[in-house]
Amino acid sequence: MRVGIFDSGVGGLTVLKEIYDKYPDNEYVYIGDNKNSPYGEKTKEELYSYASRIIDYFIKRDIKHIVIACNTICSNVFSLLKEKYNDIVLIGVVDSTVSSFIKTNKKKVLILATTKTIESNIYENKIKEIDKNIKVYSLAAQKLVPLIENGVSVKNVLAEYLNPYKDIDSIILGCTHYKIIEKEIDKDVVIINSSDGVVVEISRYLDNCNKSSVEIYTTGDVLQFNKLCMKIMSKEGRFIDL
Ligand code: DGL
Repeated sequence: MRVGIFDSGVGGLTVLKEIYDKYPDNEYVYIGDNKNSPYGEKTKEELYSYASRIIDYFIKRDIKHIVIACNTICSNVFSLLKEKYNDIVLIGVVDSTVSSFIKTNKKKVLILATTKTIESNIYENKIKEIDKNIKVYSLAAQKLVPLIENGVSVKNVLAEYLNPYKDIDSIILGCTHYKIIEKEIDKDVVIINSSDGVVVEISRYLDNCNKSSVEIYTTGDVLQFNKLCMKIMSKEGRFIDL
């Protein structure tokens, strides 16, 4: 099967990697929209337009299964996109991440995400719908994505963000970029990233074909993009003018 995957930049590569490692016998096309990155503080109109442009490209390439590997898009315009593209299978990352969290049985969770994801309250609402006794803390960690994209250490910024939260037993990484820095979190808590869960979701659709391929594109600076792309996927991406 052909699968399109996209994000604002390198973050969604963590999702592509999970899916590709498990199901290599499919054709994957990835787009990192670095030209418009970061998405984390963009308006709904902007997010809708960026996502639409990428989905339209996938449709032109006859791709009918698309993973939106971006919490910011999923938490703000997912239902609008589902309405617009009702003959395409759109798979988001929020529900699968909430499911992974619920399975941990933890009760005091910190949601770490971009400003727009936090402002949408999507994680808190979905968790409370399932169990209103879970204590949910939310933190917009807006500084992280640009640092990650630029390959700069996040150690100090991360410590500054996390230090005030003494009484938590878990952290949801509500941004696909954060999986890249997961190991730098110096806290004795369970960490749920937003890449692992989506593999279960996509497996319902995948029908391993004999063709196996991965095409990776960025709308931005390809040299910068490839530093992390090589690390995550052991493969270079190319520039695409969208
Ligand atoms: N990786 C995206 C997310 O999951 C977007 C981050 C950004 O561009 O701000 O939210």
